Amino acid sequence: MDAILLRIEEKIAKLRQSLKSRPATPTSSTEEYSCEKCCDKEFIQVEDGTWIFCECRKLRDLQRRIKSSMIDSQFIKASFGDYKRQPYNEKMYRTVAEYAGNFEQIRVQRHNGIGLLAVVGEKKLNEILNSARKSEEKARHNSYGLGKTHLLSALAMHLIMQGKQVLMVNDSDIIAELRQSQFDEEGMEKAIGLVENAEVLIWDDLGKAKTTDWVLNQYYRIINYRYRKQLPTCFSTNEDLDTLVDKVGDAAASRLYAMCKGRLVCVEGPDYRLLG
Ligand SMILES: Nc1ncnc2c1ncn2[C@@H]1O[C@H](COP(=O)(O)OP(=O)(O)OP(=O)(O)O)[C@@H](O)[C@H]1O
Ligand SMILES: [Mg+2]
Ligand SMILES: [Zn+2]
Repeated sequence: MDAILLRIEEKIAKLRQSLKSRPATPTSSTEEYSCEKCCDKEFIQVEDGTWIFCECRKLRDLQRRIKSSMIDSQFIKASFGDYKRQPYNEKMYRTVAEYAGNFEQIRVQRHNGIGLLAVVGEKKLNEILNSARKSEEKARHNSYGLGKTHLLSALAMHLIMQGKQVLMVNDSDIIAELRQSQFDEEGMEKAIGLVENAEVLIWDDLGKAKTTDWVLNQYYRIINYRYRKQLPTCFSTNEDLDTLVDKVGDAAASRLYAMCKGRLVCVEGPDYRLLG
């Protein structure tokens, strides 16, 4: 299975290289095209006069899918191959890598998501009153910089390469975006519809936004919709199984845990950002 992942990642690396060397749009007004063959029309006419897709189309499709997935540009390069496996992160790595490798079989199952959680949630740690104890417990139960976003981005790229439509949203960003469009009914429906209907939704940092009734309603609406349609939903959070319930509400958490049953991984360890 690791060999298959590595082969796909080699393919991704090659495609990235060619994406880099070909700008998507003409670079100047002097007819400079990223594909000289079709002058960026994506079609070419063959001898008998019929039009066929140009070979650059596959690459442009991939480019479009990466763009519409909203993966953070900082993480487009993240791969399974460059993830350093350690005893404390092995279960998380295997869960995400196996999911990537077996997505077609998993997606049709009732439990077709992944949840990466903390062992002791941020909310619980922040409630410790004694400041010395608080920093001690925070260090002992660190859930930051473990590579959750890294692994979920590698998963997103892997699925995009297989032609899946992936949407990767960051909790604070998506809540801010929905909040902005809340007084524009059409805009709000469009934004929420994209999240609800994504073929694969990856929700990073779930529960980060400040909990209000309005935020709880948005979580419920999106999660309930995806639960009913059995659409694959993966998430990461710095909360644990108990504190996430407080952050997203009982009804949303119950559905989310059911969707990710068998793939809820609670992880803690050293912050990679602070290593070396
Ligand atoms: N095991 C690892 N091997 C290689 N790189 C790693 C590993 N763990 C983390 N990183 C890198 O460390 C940085 C932080 O990782 P990442 O943002 O994925 O952590 P996170 O668990 O999502 O943290 P947070 O909870 O703060 O969002 C990233 O640049 C990521 O690529
Ligand atoms: Mg993260
Ligand atoms: Zn072309």
